Amino acid sequence: MIESIVKKLVSLVVLGLAVSAFAMTDQQRAEMEERIKPAGQVCMEGDSSCGSASAAGSGSGKSAEEIYNTSCMACHTTGAAGAPKLGDVAAWEDRLGKGLETVYANAINGINGMPPKGTCMSCSDEEIEATVDYILENSK
Ligand code: HEC
Repeated sequence: MIESIVKKLVSLVVLGLAVSAFAMTDQQRAEMEERIKPAGQVCMEGDSSCGSASAAGSGSGKSAEEIYNTSCMACHTTGAAGAPKLGDVAAWEDRLGKGLETVYANAINGINGMPPKGTCMSCSDEEIEATVDYILENSK
């Protein structure tokens, strides 16, 4: 019973794909091919690293301050979810008690409410470390 429903569904999907493939104009086909390119070639809108020769793994190309203002400020300026605030000297001294390397690593890999790289997935590890330095510079 279930098997026959599944078979029906599968054939419906296959049929649908076949029909839509025939119905496509050359223009649509080109657009579709554009969309299904291998992931490495796809450029997300707003990704400033796209198209540059150094795009692969070299980071966002943003300054620490820019990264802070785009990716970290939402939590670290307000203290949302218990984030240590920029400028809160005592809070950051406390954090540094476990060692700068650990603090860097937690910023890169995430910890509790802190998302990995503060969600800046185009940022390199070095850029995140520089952004942590920026926060620390402004919190002492
Ligand atoms: C969604 C909110 C959020 C964003 C965005 C965010 N953080 Fe955090 N961050 C947190 C919270 C919450 C903590 C505290 C986590 C804990 O120790 O429980 C934290 C902790 C940290 C720590 C201390 C880690 C430690 O070892 O104590 C650093 C460093 C840090 N964030 C850096 C950053 C940087 C750099 C960015 C931007 C690239 C960023 N955060 C973006 C919420 C955020």
